[in-house]
Amino acid sequence: MLVAPSILSANFGCLDLEVKAICEAGCDLVHVDVMDGHFVPNLTIGPVVVKSVKKASTKPLDIHLMVENNPFFVDLFASIKPKYISFHIEEEKHPHRLIQKIKSYDINAAIVLNPHTPPESIEYLLNDLDMVLLMSVNPGFGGQKFIPSVIEKSKRLKEMILKNNSKCLIEVDGGVNDKNIHLLKDAGVDIVVAGSYIYKSSDYKKAIDSLKV
Ligand code: DX5
Ligand code: ZN
Repeated sequence: MLVAPSILSANFGCLDLEVKAICEAGCDLVHVDVMDGHFVPNLTIGPVVVKSVKKASTKPLDIHLMVENNPFFVDLFASIKPKYISFHIEEEKHPHRLIQKIKSYDINAAIVLNPHTPPESIEYLLNDLDMVLLMSVNPGFGGQKFIPSVIEKSKRLKEMILKNNSKCLIEVDGGVNDKNIHLLKDAGVDIVVAGSYIYKSSDYKKAIDSLKV
């Protein structure tokens, strides 16, 4: 299992140290939540701050857009060269076009599904995608309770990926901890995002290691 700590639960008063700490503790990616106050009822950070996160990080960035007007934000963050940019299918009329746009920047493209969105809605995109991010909470805030139906959804998605000979990875985001990590592993999940579980712990390395199942 690859582990992508979400900096949403970090201490923003010393964000560079918080980013360095999770990198030294052995994370695989650094998950950055971009919220615009429209698609979700919360507002986070823009390119100026994400640029300094990139500078502090020795690991690739995983940018999760929770915004309206996805193409505008893709253009805005592309020069930071994250490994992944993921956008919500619920907010995109032209997902195939947006995937091509992300790839034109040499960035891996991912689609995010809210808890109510069926994986069948993106079956015809699986061969164009590098990753599907399944939300296991409603997007907008850290520290929420894990929604267990994501386990069944991940199993269904995994079957679809295999059936379509796709190389797409599965990532799960929200409420991940040492109690549900084995269920996620068994459901075919490749990468987990964890915010509060890691940043509220007293030992980041121990918390990250407990998710590397
Ligand atoms: C929620 C964000 C998550 C959040 C996860 O909208 O996408 O990345 O930071 O936080 P935890 O792990 O605390 O649920
Ligand atoms: Zn996220």
